[in-house]
Formats: sequence, C-alpha cells, structure tokens
Amino acid sequence: MAILLNERRADRPVDAQFLDRWSPRAFSPAPVPQDVLDSLFEAARWAPSCFNEQPWLFLCARERPDLDQFRGLLLDSNRVWADRAPVLAYLFARKTFERNGKPNRWAMFDCGAAWMSLALQARRLGLYAHAMAGFRREDTYEELGVPAADYEVICAIAIGSYGDPAVLPPDVAAREKPNDRKPISSFVIYGRMDKPAGWGRFELRSLTA
Ligand SMILES: Cc1cc2nc3c(=O)[nH]c(=O)nc-3n(C[C@H](O)[C@H](O)[C@H](O)COP(=O)(O)O)c2cc1C
Repeated sequence: MAILLNERRADRPVDAQFLDRWSPRAFSPAPVPQDVLDSLFEAARWAPSCFNEQPWLFLCARERPDLDQFRGLLLDSNRVWADRAPVLAYLFARKTFERNGKPNRWAMFDCGAAWMSLALQARRLGLYAHAMAGFRREDTYEELGVPAADYEVICAIAIGSYGDPAVLPPDVAAREKPNDRKPISSFVIYGRMDKPAGWGRFELRSLTA
C-alpha cells in the first residue's frame, strides 16, 4: 500500500506526518504567535537524549533588531528565501555533560532528535521549519554571544507558514517541491556489513516499482 501525500510516495505504510514534513523556501512573513512558537520548543523539549542531558540550546529571533542580526549570519544563497521567514533560530549543542564535565559525543545526535520533534510539531500547527547549514559558522558565537568553548553551533532554522512561491528567484522556485528518498535497501543491512554482496541480505523492493 503506497501512501501518497503532496507529491511524495512512501514505499511502505508510514504515518502521514513523515511525508508531510518537508523544507520549503517560500515562507510567508506572517508572524508566528508566541504560544505557537512555545509549542514547537515544547516538542523539542521532549526529545530523548543521552543521560537525559538535553544538550540543545535554541537562540531564537522573532522581531527586530534580533532578526536582522540572525539573518545577517546566513549565506546569501539562504538569505534570498529565508529572509522572509518571520522566525529564525540557531541550534547549538552543549559540548560536555553537565553531570561530570566530560565530552558528550552524543550531543549532536540528541539535538537532531530535538530538531525533528520541532519540525514535526510545526507541521501539526500548520507551519514549516527549514534547517540550514549555510551560515557563517565561525562568526555565530561572537555575534550571538555564545561561548564557543561550551557550545557547537549546528544549524539555523527558518520557521513560519507557507507563502507565495512566485516571490522566489527562478532558480530557487525550480526546487520548490518535496523531494524523494533512497530506498530502504540502500541503508538497512541485516547482519554484518562485510558479507559478499547479496548474501543473507534482506533486499527490499519498492511496492510501487
Ligand atoms: C543540517 C541541515 C542543513 C541544511 N542546510 C540547508 C541549507 O543551508 N540551505 C537549504 O536551502 N536547505 C538546507 N537543508 C535542507 C535539506 O536540503 C533538506 O532537508 C533535504 O533536501 C531533504 O528535504 P526535505 O527536508 O524537504 O525533506 C538542510 C537540512 C539539514 C537537516
């Protein structure tokens, strides 16, 4: 049974929310109410983390002058569309465990879980969240007042409702549609990886092929 939602098609039955979340660039400048934004961060709050350390830190801008400063860190390739988003956040990971000061090598993983929770909650509330690696990483710490010794910046996140794709530059507009994924068989292996090709491996075939 294939699930068709928007233009995406799943190879196996999954909850529709996983197809419904995507990263658009046509944001509406309509403000996001504070209580709605709070719900997004509440979703992030409940993400699992190693030792329940919750190593995520979101710096969030929803009005000037913060918005101007946050947007100024983005690369131009992102600014052309992300400047219309009414909310811009930066996600940082705390590098060490609060419990013992040792390096937390799972912090980025945990922050990824928090980001995904936020992104899925955004869709539940009719919004979109679009993560970005394209920003001036080295300048982020000083410009946002975050100690680089303690935190690692991960990504910027544009948040808002969907806007008018007609305002996008033509090259950006051409990419404005939900994309596809590799098949499960390309990233799931049952048993050891170093078996002879095809031996003992559970090959999944797309139901829609
Ligand atoms: C960590 C991370 C960094 C990303 N950086 C950018 C970026 O700088 N600019 C951009 O337009 N999209 C960026 N994206 C969006 C990805 O291109 C997008 O998530 C991917 O193509 C899958 O598409 P989907 O999110 O629509 O499902 C980023 C996504 C992630 C998770």
